[in-house]
Amino acid sequence: MKFFLDTANLEELKLGASYGIVDGVTTNPSLIAKEGRPIEEQVARICEIVDGDVSAEVVSTEAPAMIAEGLKLAKIHKNIVVKCPLTRDGIKATSALAKEGIRVNVTLCFSAGQALLAAKAGAYIISPFVGRLDDIGSEGMDLIRSIVVIYQNYGFKTQVLAASLRGPMHVIDSALAGAHIGTMPFKVLDALFNHPLTDRGLEQFMKDYNKAFHGNTAG
Ligand code: E4P
Repeated sequence: MKFFLDTANLEELKLGASYGIVDGVTTNPSLIAKEGRPIEEQVARICEIVDGDVSAEVVSTEAPAMIAEGLKLAKIHKNIVVKCPLTRDGIKATSALAKEGIRVNVTLCFSAGQALLAAKAGAYIISPFVGRLDDIGSEGMDLIRSIVVIYQNYGFKTQVLAASLRGPMHVIDSALAGAHIGTMPFKVLDALFNHPLTDRGLEQFMKDYNKAFHGNTAG
């Protein structure tokens, strides 16, 4: 499973990249807005930090403008993946961009039917939003399971990116469901490290070692 960071914050990305386990980055207009720099500038900086797919989302809503914007974003860096929303215009733009050899991440997917449309349009990635479905009382993870099965049934090459992951269990369940990628905020990646038995075990190892070799009974 590939791990992507769902942030446009350079400090979080630098820290994440230092672990050597981050395979890519997803951004969206809200995340870019939080950092206060124009998208072209911010994603170019992100591409210098993380060597992997970096999703940059179009902000136009009509297909011709989305296509023009997508072509421009794709020129910023070889790792840019153009993100288009799952609307009629977004799917039109995805088909056109895919025909030009541009990799498209189709975002804001909330149903298996929508995921089929994206795959048929030649999307490189589909982004089903788990947490936002949970928020409205729907089982978000069921959508990941359904899309993985449907894509396997027909041999679609589109990668399933579990998005809107809110905690470690979302990551683990996405992996169990067979999602190719999980994108997560930095705090979710960080939470994956934690286990009290790891902390307690390490403390005991250090205590035993120091007692035997350094006569340090306090540990
Ligand atoms: C994915 O590409 C989206 O940016 C993201 O996962 C949305 O997450 P949220 O629902 O926590 O905003």
